[in-house]
Amino acid sequence: MLSGKHILLVIGGGIAAFKSLDLIRRLRERGAQVTPVLTQAGSEFVTPLSVSALAGNKVFQDLFDLNDESEMGHIELSRAADLIVVAPATADLMAKMASGLANDLASTLLLATDKRVLVAPSMNVRMWDHPATQRNIKTLTNDGVLMVGPNKGDMACGEFGPGRMAEPLEIVDAVQAALNDGPLKGKHVLVTSGPTHEPIDPVRYIANRSSGSQGTAIANALSALGADVTFVTGPSDVPPPAGVKVIAVQTAKQMLEAVQNALPADAGVFAAAVADWRMANASDSKIKKDGNGLPVLEFAENPDILATVSQMTDGRPALVVGFAAETDDVMAHATAKRARKGCDWILANDVSPETGIMGGTENDVTLIHADGAEDWPRMTKDDVARKLAVRIAEALK
Ligand code: CTP
Repeated sequence: MLSGKHILLVIGGGIAAFKSLDLIRRLRERGAQVTPVLTQAGSEFVTPLSVSALAGNKVFQDLFDLNDESEMGHIELSRAADLIVVAPATADLMAKMASGLANDLASTLLLATDKRVLVAPSMNVRMWDHPATQRNIKTLTNDGVLMVGPNKGDMACGEFGPGRMAEPLEIVDAVQAALNDGPLKGKHVLVTSGPTHEPIDPVRYIANRSSGSQGTAIANALSALGADVTFVTGPSDVPPPAGVKVIAVQTAKQMLEAVQNALPADAGVFAAAVADWRMANASDSKIKKDGNGLPVLEFAENPDILATVSQMTDGRPALVVGFAAETDDVMAHATAKRARKGCDWILANDVSPETGIMGGTENDVTLIHADGAEDWPRMTKDDVARKLAVRIAEALK
């Protein structure tokens, strides 16, 4: 899917550099040609020999190397690629990029290029959270630099939090999205994701356990196949996919409005765990313990976004996909839900706590459509997303 594409891969000096070796393999498996650039700090973590052997290509390291300059000058090197990928993108490298420094080969290439740049940040959580890094990230995003990750998790330094470099396959998806080349090229797909938060008063709200990871993975996978994705998301800690249009909302009503504004679309995937009810008597000020007894919370029903879009008579997306999160009688409830809401496909899953699906990394789904049901084996949410994206591409052909 990346055949004929040329990636210039800048490997910075971070412990995640070992994952960049796998990234090179994954990019080449998909047909990309990879030209590696190894910073001096990067070469403390991976050797030029392993990088060059895996890339099947010469590794560039020095700005003032006369041989390199006579073969291919650094300006030419920065422009010959279709995309520049920086992985791992260290705090230092991003600070250089944000301030336009050009004092080594990597930073000079990044300043000289006329191509898009995708960075995969990797650093300690405190370095990531530091206002200086966050300022640099904002500058880079405003400059049009694309970003994938970082993910949250255990770090090599023993701490926990955001700062882990995205996994090689996530970076490959982001590369494909950045190159916007695939069977969904030219198609607009709308994805809802995450929970909604329904306020009780300005400081309290009703929510659910959805993490937004399945919806995010779907948006990523669709974008990797070249779709133009609008991602409408409730509050979520999962970083939104690179290269998609993100609309962040809080409540179900805001989500419906955002979805309606984003139409028309060729397909819609409704993965959000929308709160069924909101407060009918939400308070504008904080509810106090004022001695008058317990507050009475009155509920009102939220709009059903999936049903509203499925039942549109004018401008309905050609394919509408919903989810059915059930804890018992999964198939019966999901089949009835498909008919009741009027969507084309339903991905049914059992979200009972013992399945570990809600908030976990895996999913176990059954795809229900007009012609019957297909059980998919249990797989990661990323793989469910890729499989679904391929099916959507086939359906929209
Ligand atoms: N959905 C929606 N708007 C709502 C409720 C649900 O768009 N207000 C969508 C979800 O995104 C999902 C599908 O409808 O694609 C089914 O959601 P689910 O929570 O399983 O079903 P509910 O409609 O909430 O029905 P129930 O609570 O009775 O299971």
